[in-house]
Amino acid sequence: MRTPEMLFPFITLVAALLAATTISAQEFPIAKAGCQDRCGNVTIPYPFGLTDDCYYHVRFLITCNHTFNPPKAFLTTSTINVTEITLEGKLHIEQYIAKDCYNASGPTHSNSLELKLAKFIISDADNIFVSIGCDTVASLRGNLKEADSAENEYEVGCTSFCNSFKYVPNDTCSGIGCCQTSLAKGVDDFYITVSSQTNHSAILDFSPCSYAFIIEEKKFNFSKSHFKDLENVDKLPMVVDWSIGYNSCAEVKKSGMYNACQGNSTCHDPDNGNGYLCRCLDGYRGNPYLPNGCLDVDECKDSNLNECLKNYCHNTIGNYTCPCPKGYHGDGRKDGEGCSADQLLVVKIFVGVGASVIVLVAVSGLLMAGKHPWTNVESNYEETEYLLGKKIDASGHGKSGESSSGYQVIGPVLLPSGGR
Ligand SMILES: *[C@@H]1O[C@H](CO)[C@@H](O)[C@H](O)[C@H]1NC(C)=O
Ligand SMILES: *[C@@H]1O[C@H](CO)[C@@H](O)[C@H](O)[C@H]1NC(C)=O
Ligand SMILES: *[C@@H]1O[C@H](CO)[C@@H](O)[C@H](O)[C@H]1NC(C)=O
Ligand SMILES: *[C@@H]1O[C@H](CO)[C@@H](O)[C@H](O)[C@H]1NC(C)=O
Ligand SMILES: *[C@@H]1O[C@H](CO)[C@@H](O)[C@H](O)[C@H]1NC(C)=O
Ligand SMILES: *[C@@H]1O[C@H](CO)[C@@H](O)[C@H](O)[C@H]1NC(C)=O
Ligand SMILES: *[C@@H]1O[C@H](CO)[C@@H](O)[C@H](O)[C@H]1NC(C)=O
Ligand SMILES: *[C@@H]1O[C@H](CO)[C@@H](O)[C@H](O)[C@H]1NC(C)=O
Ligand SMILES: *[C@@H]1O[C@H](CO)[C@@H](O)[C@H](O)[C@H]1NC(C)=O
Repeated sequence: MRTPEMLFPFITLVAALLAATTISAQEFPIAKAGCQDRCGNVTIPYPFGLTDDCYYHVRFLITCNHTFNPPKAFLTTSTINVTEITLEGKLHIEQYIAKDCYNASGPTHSNSLELKLAKFIISDADNIFVSIGCDTVASLRGNLKEADSAENEYEVGCTSFCNSFKYVPNDTCSGIGCCQTSLAKGVDDFYITVSSQTNHSAILDFSPCSYAFIIEEKKFNFSKSHFKDLENVDKLPMVVDWSIGYNSCAEVKKSGMYNACQGNSTCHDPDNGNGYLCRCLDGYRGNPYLPNGCLDVDECKDSNLNECLKNYCHNTIGNYTCPCPKGYHGDGRKDGEGCSADQLLVVKIFVGVGASVIVLVAVSGLLMAGKHPWTNVESNYEETEYLLGKKIDASGHGKSGESSSGYQVIGPVLLPSGGR
């Protein structure tokens, strides 16, 4: 039996760990003062917020639905699940799959899918468009958001046909039973359809369905078991790029518009879409959208953050130095000279006959890091436009025996890979 004495060290350890996580969580502010910074498992950093006073703009509203346990986060007032928000401008969401399924009697289930994000943009760097099946014609029609608000449509397709399960490689999306292609930059809404040419009639035993979806590339590994098991999967992870406003950093600076980047941070342009993002200066960490949100990192507390020899680290605001202790010189760095004992400059001064005095001169090299002054330009809010994420529409068509409807034949289809 365990005695309370035996349990005690364990309890203190747990308490110490809890204290440590609380401190690190509070070290850098996440949400605006007085605002909730979590919804269930999802951290909600400003500019996002759960209420009027807590977000930067209504498009950054996150609705926290407490009827779920843990509560679930949704983008604005839509049914789009948010699973993670990063300050690097990424929003992780869950998105439906387009399906087209058959049995020996004919079509059993079919749906296309549409996502309209209004302001946010589908990440071209993080996602791919995938279709799966052995009698599969899939297409993605996207709208490219231009700075001038013009909508430019583009379309890409993926087809795959195969007649034997044996020849489908298990772990690579090779074009046999699986086709993938990249996404264009600047896509803010898309429409995905998937259909068949022969009702999967000869391949029903191993490929009864076709699927098409956009998925976070990192989270996708093709497996032959997807032919069947995706039938029971509703949603898959996808990444969306967010940014502030519609103007680039240069435009914001030039026009003197309100700049959302607070002290100790800088503005930078996103890789995809318009608007801008803020980033804490090197040597600072935290939330660059909050006043006093970027705080100095104490590089000396984490040996991975400094190059100093052990114990020779000195934190400065925005950086650190590696001063050698008194009586030593060098750069104090692991990859540099390190610290070595000062050469003793021995001066013998002869006074009179036989008497001698030895003078030691120690030279210590002490590095001083410069400070980085940073000024914040504030004027009026640039954003007056209210654009809400529009609701997703995942529509199902076709009951048993009915032919599926709701497809559109749309122009010439570009086939990047796959085929017969
Ligand atoms: C939420 O977090 C808990 C604890 O970390 C975890 O067990 C649970 O699976 C998470 N739930 C979701 C929906 O991610
Ligand atoms: C929360 O989710 C439930 C179940 O999906 C739904 O009925 C309800 O309307 C949602 N509440 C809010 C505030 O969105
Ligand atoms: C996303 O939300 C839907 C309800 O709208 C829910 O069924 C699903 O489990 C959610 N996914 C996650 C990962 O929370
Ligand atoms: C096909 O599926 C439908 C239900 O979607 C069912 O009613 C029908 O009996 C099935 N046909 C065969 C041959 O399994
Ligand atoms: C394919 O790979 C997956 C995951 O590695 C494995 O679970 C599955 O059994 C494999 N399927 C076949 C048919 O080899
Ligand atoms: C597919 O099924 C539909 C409806 O059952 C039927 O009209 C069509 O002829 C079939 N096509 C093929 C190639 O079997
Ligand atoms: C995909 O496969 C690679 C290599 O086998 C593995 O490292 C990775 O974790 C897998 N990813 C997922 C989402 O399963
Ligand atoms: C920190 O100091 C080092 C050496 O003095 C310098 O090379 C580096 O650029 C500085 N880093 C920052 C963020 O100022
Ligand atoms: C910049 O960082 C320093 C060091 O953490 C902090 O004292 C100061 O308040 C910050 N300035 C602003 C404007 O956030």
